[in-house]
Amino acid sequence: MIVLSGKRLSRKLCLGAWRTFVSNGEKEPYWRSKFPDRIASFDEIPTISERYDPQRLPQVAEQWFKKFGYVVKEPMPFGKYNVHLFHFDDFKIVYSNDGSFPIRQSHYAVAQYREERKHLYSGVGLGAGQGQEWRHLRSAASALNLHTSRSMAEDVVDDLISIIKNNLNDTGEIDLLPWLHRWAFESVGVVALNRRLNALSQNGNELADKMVAAAAVTDEMIALTTMEPTTMYEERFKQLVEAQDFFYSVLKKYIDGIMRDIELDPETEGVAQILLQNDSYTEKDVITLIMDMFQGSLQTVPLTALMAFYHLALNSYIQDKARDEARKRMPTKNSKYFDFKGPKDYIGSIVYETLRLNPPVLGNGRIIQRDLILGGYFVPAYTNVLLHFQVASRQKEFFEEPLKFIPEREDYQKIMSVFGGSSRMCIGKTFALRQLLLIVTKIIKNFEVSYDGGEVSMINHLHNKPEKPLILRLKPIDE
Ligand code: HEM
Repeated sequence: MIVLSGKRLSRKLCLGAWRTFVSNGEKEPYWRSKFPDRIASFDEIPTISERYDPQRLPQVAEQWFKKFGYVVKEPMPFGKYNVHLFHFDDFKIVYSNDGSFPIRQSHYAVAQYREERKHLYSGVGLGAGQGQEWRHLRSAASALNLHTSRSMAEDVVDDLISIIKNNLNDTGEIDLLPWLHRWAFESVGVVALNRRLNALSQNGNELADKMVAAAAVTDEMIALTTMEPTTMYEERFKQLVEAQDFFYSVLKKYIDGIMRDIELDPETEGVAQILLQNDSYTEKDVITLIMDMFQGSLQTVPLTALMAFYHLALNSYIQDKARDEARKRMPTKNSKYFDFKGPKDYIGSIVYETLRLNPPVLGNGRIIQRDLILGGYFVPAYTNVLLHFQVASRQKEFFEEPLKFIPEREDYQKIMSVFGGSSRMCIGKTFALRQLLLIVTKIIKNFEVSYDGGEVSMINHLHNKPEKPLILRLKPIDE
């Protein structure tokens, strides 16, 4: 069977049905001029044969796209292929045919670690989980959007602002990313556990230091074991085990504390508290989900924030406009971000534009569960397809002047696919956007940001990050 925009067709009838599809007034597929009267076979998809450095995949994939077009296949072991996609319409087709249990291959090493510790975790977690096990944990994730401790989230950013002021060097510069990691860690602590973890306090933060480091090691090991699964796996897996064991042991103590406190104070409102009071979820579910929340946010959100400040540093007009909005929102020194309920339109656009131009992840993946027509080619069910958001979002076919930072763009819909799609879309989307709005608004109100360090080269280690520290100059604004 072939599926065209959700319609199931036999292969022979494909062309006839295709004409009906068009004459029904639906949008012509973008590939029609390339294949005016047929569907091309899987074998006809251009095949790449070069070996490449996985850390350069976004750049390499862009070259494949330029050379071969919107669909490219890459041979994998055991006669299989990965199919790389570069068109938003194809992303849409993949997501809309995901079914009830979308399959994404990722986080093998975390899956192995948790499989070997079934007494501690409820399963492999959201990253690697599939089927009913995934669905059950996924349903718990809605607690993330119930959480409301906004004042604590704002206190975390205020602490970051003090730390930045104390850590600027003689020329007013700072390597912001390590502090942004701490901010993200502390912010997830607030949303997940409704408590401060001290990653941004001036002292007494040894435990938080170790947790931030353990989370970073885990992320690095996930990246390395995913990119080069055969080389040095054992060594890397060992490091991941050490980091996760430590992280788990601290988290478990916090959760045990919450279990005791809930009896005293049933009104507490972190994700853990909400779920632990719900009989559908076990303590193991809660720990598994919270570990995934830390893992999901500790790189993505700080890297996006860093790149937003980088773009603001390069565009003084945009920075001034953002500051005007921030001042309207917080007119006095003591105004609180969350006291103002109006829109944050321009700063929101800055966040979207950063996600378009510098997404923290290069895209997404799916094992498709039906035959699909992608880019005019027949792609059989159970093929692993890679949806290259990063490449697509930098093409003029989709965005005018794509390499320019222009917050005034209006097409947010496409940009939102940086968070994936269907029922498996990122659980942290709303939280991430809220956090990014908060931090950009507050930092831009408190500092003038500039940068003169030359072009920034990015590498991909599961996440896109600057190859070298990106040093910004932050000049405090006295009010
Ligand atoms: C700018 C920030 C972020 C970006 C760009 C991002 C992107 C993504 C993408 C592309 C996926 C795959 C979705 C799919 O398969 O359709 C994903 C999944 C996930 N994200 Fe995020 N993410 C971000 C922030 C966060 C945050 C803050 C959290 C935690 C609170 C988080 C936790 C997760 C989890 C647990 C999954 C797995 C979901 C599942 O498979 O059911 N992410 N994210």
